[in-house]
Amino acid sequence: MATSVTTLKRDDYRPFPWQISHVRLEFELDPACTRVQNQLELSSPTGGDLVLDGRALELEGIWLDDQPLPVGRWTHEPEHDRLTLHALPPRCTVRIVSSCRPEANTALEGLYWSGGKLVTQCEAHGYRCITFHPDRPDVLSRYTVTLRASRERFPVLLSNGDPVSARELPEGRHEAVWQDPHPKPCYLFALVAGALEYQEDHFTTASGRDVCLRVYVEEHNLGKCQHALESLKLSMAWDEKAWGREYDLARFNIVAVADFNAGAMENKGLNIFNASAVLASPDTTIDDRFLYIERVVAHEYFHNWSGNRVTLRDWFELTLKEGLTIFRDQEFTADTHSRPMKRIDDVQTLRERQFPEDAGPLAHPIRPSAVADIDNFYTVTIYEKGAEVLRMLHTLVGPEAWRASMDEYFRRFDGRAISCDDCLDVIQDVSGRSLEQFRRWYDRAGTPRVSCRREWNGDTGELTLIFSQSMAAHQGGTSLPPLLIPVRLGVLSPEGEELPLPVSGDGVQQPDLVELDRDDLRVILKSLPRGTAAPVPSLLRQYSAPVLLEDDLKDSERLLLMAHDSDPFNRWDAGQRLASDWILGVEQALREQRPVPANPEYSRALGKVLADGRLDPMMKSAFLTLPGFEALARHCRPLDPLTLFDARRHVIRELASDLRGQLLELYHTLASDAAWRFDFAEHGRRTLRNACLGWLSRLDEEEILQLARDQYWSAGNMSDRQAALALIAEQTGDWVDEITTDFHQRFRGHAEVVDSWLGILARSSAPGGLERVQRLQTHEAWQPANPNRVRALVGAFASNVSQFHGAGEAASRWYAEQTVAISAINAYVGAGLARSLGNWRRYQPDRAAMLRASLEWIRASEGLPAKVAEVCDLALKDA
Ligand code: BES
Ligand code: ZN
Repeated sequence: MATSVTTLKRDDYRPFPWQISHVRLEFELDPACTRVQNQLELSSPTGGDLVLDGRALELEGIWLDDQPLPVGRWTHEPEHDRLTLHALPPRCTVRIVSSCRPEANTALEGLYWSGGKLVTQCEAHGYRCITFHPDRPDVLSRYTVTLRASRERFPVLLSNGDPVSARELPEGRHEAVWQDPHPKPCYLFALVAGALEYQEDHFTTASGRDVCLRVYVEEHNLGKCQHALESLKLSMAWDEKAWGREYDLARFNIVAVADFNAGAMENKGLNIFNASAVLASPDTTIDDRFLYIERVVAHEYFHNWSGNRVTLRDWFELTLKEGLTIFRDQEFTADTHSRPMKRIDDVQTLRERQFPEDAGPLAHPIRPSAVADIDNFYTVTIYEKGAEVLRMLHTLVGPEAWRASMDEYFRRFDGRAISCDDCLDVIQDVSGRSLEQFRRWYDRAGTPRVSCRREWNGDTGELTLIFSQSMAAHQGGTSLPPLLIPVRLGVLSPEGEELPLPVSGDGVQQPDLVELDRDDLRVILKSLPRGTAAPVPSLLRQYSAPVLLEDDLKDSERLLLMAHDSDPFNRWDAGQRLASDWILGVEQALREQRPVPANPEYSRALGKVLADGRLDPMMKSAFLTLPGFEALARHCRPLDPLTLFDARRHVIRELASDLRGQLLELYHTLASDAAWRFDFAEHGRRTLRNACLGWLSRLDEEEILQLARDQYWSAGNMSDRQAALALIAEQTGDWVDEITTDFHQRFRGHAEVVDSWLGILARSSAPGGLERVQRLQTHEAWQPANPNRVRALVGAFASNVSQFHGAGEAASRWYAEQTVAISAINAYVGAGLARSLGNWRRYQPDRAAMLRASLEWIRASEGLPAKVAEVCDLALKDA
C-alpha cells in the first residue's frame, strides 16, 4: 500500500492549553533499552485532557500526584504517536515511565547510538522518541536532568545548562545531574553519554562572567579541537560587540558525533556537531572547511539568542530563527574576513541552489502555509532567502535603526515563542516605517524578476531608469501585488569613474537606493556630464535584493563595470554575466551544430583582472569561478544537460588556453614555503593558485599534469593536496588510481577525509562514473547508515552532470534504488536524496520522463517513510 501523507496548515495554530513549568527527567542509560522517568509540573486554568506526543516508546506506567493513574483515565494510541491523559485537575504533577531502544534507532532522531556514545537529536520532532511530551516549540519549561549509567562505558554524562551534582552508585554505575535555568522548548533538550575527552578554554563576558568552554571528542581527535574553540571565542566576542548579546550560562559544551543528520544543533549549552563540522587540523582539513567550521560554530552559538532565548511559535515560523541566524553568521564572516567575498559566496549559493529550488515544484515561501513533515523544510529557501529578506530590511531601515530594532526584539520577546509577524512589528515600531508591503516577501514563492531599461538625454545630462517587476508566469506573472524591492545603484562615467548621485523621483529615500514598490517605476538621475556618450549604471549593488535582474547593458558596458566598478560585487557580477552569455551562446551553437563563438574581449578583460594590483587573490579566484551548471540551467528550456556541460567546459578551456602564460606564472609566483596558517590572505593565495592549476589542467597537457602530480606528492597542507587530487581524479590511467589509492591509504583513519575522498570520486567527470560509485559501494569505506558517507557518495553523484546524465536510465534507476534503500535506514537522509530529482521537469522530454518515472517508482515503493513520500508528492504534483 502506498504511504499516506497528512498535511498541517499554519492557520490551524492553537495555543497549547497547559503550562509545563518544570520537567524532571531521569535516565537509566543503556544502548539496548534506556528507561526514562519524566515528571511534568502542569497547570491550566480549567484542567481537562492532556494530549502528549510519543513515538516508538514502550509505556511502563503513569502516576498522577504520586498515585498510579488507573486504566481508563488514559488512552495510548501508538499508531497516532499519541498519549492522552483524561480529566486532569488544573494543577498537578504527572510522572510517566517509558523506554526506548537507542541501538535500534538508525533514523538518528531522538536518543541514538553512535560510535560507542549515546547522543540525542530533538529538532524538529525527535524529543517524542525519547519521552511523552507536547512536542511543539511553544511549550517552554525548566529542565532538571538526571543521568545514570555504567561508569566504565559512559564516564562522561552531559546535558543542558550547568552541572549541579555527581555521585557514584552501586554496581559500577554513576550519576550526574544537570540543571538548565532558562525555560526552553523540548527541541533544545540534549544529552550525551560516552567515553569522551575534551579540550577546554575560557571566555570572559562583557559583564565579567567566566564561561568554561569545552569541545568533547573521542581521544584520537583531541588534536582537532583548537580551531573550533578559537571560532567559538571569536563568535562570542563578535556577538557582544555587534549585537549586544552576552552568553547566559557558566558552561558551553560542544560534542563531535560521527553519525549526524544535519551539520550541527544548537541545544541549550550543549551543542552537538556532526564531526565533519567541528574537527580540523592543517594536515587533514582544507581552508574552505576551516572557514565552514568557523561559520557553523558561530551559527549554532548565535542561536543561543536567536532561536533559544527567543523561540518559535510553531514550525511554520522556522525562518524566524534560521533566516535570522544565517543573517547573523553571514555578517560575522563578513566582518571577520572580507565583506565583498562573503557576499559573492552567498550570492553563489542563492543562484546555484536557492533560485533553482524556487523555480521548480519544491518552491515554497520562506514562511510556508502547509507542511506534512517540517524536516522537509530545512531548505535553502527558509535559510538563505530568509536571510536575504532580513538583509533587505537592514538595507531599508539602515544600520542604526536595525540595531535598535534588534535590541528591542530581544528585550520584548525574551523567553517567548513568537512569529515572524512579531519580529516585523518590532522593526516597524522602532524604525517608524510601515512594513505592510514588505511583509509580502514572507508569503511569496518564486524569484522576482526586475527589469531596467534606460533613456539617456545627452543634452540635459539626465539618465532615466525605468524599472518594472514581475514573477514568472507559472508563479503569478504580473497578477500578484508588487513587492518592496531595494535596488542599490551607482553610475560610472564612460571612462569608468564613479559619478556623484543626486537621485530624485518617486520612492527615493537614500541617495543610492531605489525602493521599487510598484509594478513600474521611473527614476531620473540628474546633473550627469552631458554629451553623447551615456554614463553606465551599476545596478543592484551589493546584490541588494534576491531577484533576477534583466537590464539593457551592452557587452562593452559590462566590460567597463568589470574593469572599474567601485562596488566589488558588481565588478565580479559583470564578469559573471559576460561569461554566462558566452557559455549560453556556445551551448546554443553546439546544439545547432554551428561554429561556436569566440570571445577574445572576455579573455583580455579577465587577464587584466588577474593583473590588477587592487584586487586581493581571493577576489581574483572568484573571477575564475564561472557561473555553475545550476545557475546556467535556468536559461535553457528544455534543458539538455550534457550540451550545457560541454559548453561550460569549452569556455573554460578557451580561457585557459588564452591565459595560459599568465595562469602558469601566477601558479609559480603564488607558491610559498611559509608554514601553514589559516587566515584570509593565505587562504586566498592558496585558492587562487589552485584555481589557476584547475583551469590549466583542463588543457590536458602533460606538463600541467606533471605540476598537479608534483603538487600532490609534495603538498605541505591538505588544501594543496586535495586540490591536486581533484584535478587528477578527472583524468584516467593507472597513475590516477595509484594516487587516489594513496590518498585513501594515508587518511583512512580520518573519517572526514574519507568523506571528501568519496565526494571527489563521485563528482569526477572521468568516464565510467556510475560504475565508479557502484564499485565504491563495495569498498571498506562505504557505510550506508552514516549520513556523511551517503551524501558524499550517492548524494554527490546526483550533482555529477556529465556522469549522471551521461549514464541515462541506468543512473536514474540506480539512484532511485539507493534512495529507497537509504530511506529504510534513515528517512531524513533519504528525503534529501529524493529532493535532487525534484527538478525533473526542466529537462528534455525523454530525460524528464525517465526522472519522473524514478520518482514515481520511489513513491510507490512498499513502506516508504512519509517524510520521503512528501518530497515525491511535491515534486510530482500536477504531473
Ligand atoms: N537547527 C539547525 C539544525 C537542524 C537542521 C536541526 C535540520 C534539525 C533539522 C542548525 O542551527 C542549522 O541550521 N545547522 C546548519 C548549519 C548552519 C551553518 C547553516 C546545518 O546543520 O547544516
Ligand atoms: Zn540554524
